[in-house]
Amino acid sequence: MGLQHKSVLITGGSSGIGLELSHQLIARKNKVIICGRSLKKLQEAKAKLPELYIIQCDLSDVSQCDQLISQVKKEHPDLNILINNAAIVHRESFLGSMDSCKKAELELQVNLLAPLRLTEGLWSMLQSNSDPSIINVTTGLIYAPRADYPFYNATKSALHSFTQVLRRQTVGSGVKVIEVMFPAVDTPWHQGRPPKIAISPQQAVNEMLGGLEKGKDEIRVGGVNLLYLASRIAPQFAINKVNSL
Ligand SMILES: NC(=O)c1ccc[n+]([C@@H]2O[C@H](COP(=O)([O-])OP(=O)(O)OC[C@H]3O[C@@H](n4cnc5c(N)ncnc54)[C@H](OP(=O)(O)O)[C@@H]3O)[C@@H](O)[C@H]2O)c1
Repeated sequence: MGLQHKSVLITGGSSGIGLELSHQLIARKNKVIICGRSLKKLQEAKAKLPELYIIQCDLSDVSQCDQLISQVKKEHPDLNILINNAAIVHRESFLGSMDSCKKAELELQVNLLAPLRLTEGLWSMLQSNSDPSIINVTTGLIYAPRADYPFYNATKSALHSFTQVLRRQTVGSGVKVIEVMFPAVDTPWHQGRPPKIAISPQQAVNEMLGGLEKGKDEIRVGGVNLLYLASRIAPQFAINKVNSL
């Protein structure tokens, strides 16, 4: 895939991996539109990268998702890449915390259903533009879950499975369906306590863009490939390893 002169929507582009992606894609002369809940974070991103287009949107809210789709169709009809990057996580015990099922619903809305809604809503416009792609961001934890994330592993595993299905159902459509699995990356996601093995957002995005340029459908960044192999050969070892980090 060529990574120049594209028009790209990155959900959750105001922080971490999405913000670094915005930097690197703008440096390569692409147009980048980002969305997120916090207007302050969006404005701070735009202060650093004045070329950015920012849209405030809470992806857990169906009507705001629909508004985002309408606004992008109206203002950015040249869109050819959708990157479903925004996600949230709850770190807790399923039975030991209040409102576990409400938290699970929220994570499903943001991590799984919003990517599906954006895919459905933007598909025909993407398809009518040149060299279109949908890129879904998941994690190595689809291969071995972390026990302190009761819903996150499941939402991302569902997105992984959906991405595989969408790729098969749309063969010949002209739209590339890609998945990028990240290892631990040192971003605000970890609330100041990143695991020792975390890689920098720069390294994570460099590897992602390298995989896209090579035309890969599934890009396993950093240690994810090892985790993938370990989960095939010795699944229990892989789960123990992930939970010891
Ligand atoms: N960091 C890691 O170790 C790691 C590892 C594997 C995979 N990943 C994946 O990489 C992606 C990016 O993670 P990150 O580390 O960059 O996280 P991050 O720094 O926490 O950034 C998350 C982004 O998503 C936005 N967001 C969250 N909830 C939203 C909502 N309801 N509506 C719209 N935007 C929302 C946030 O903005 P607002 O808060 O303003 O909404 C922010 O821009 C995620 O899909 C994550 O699962 C991360």
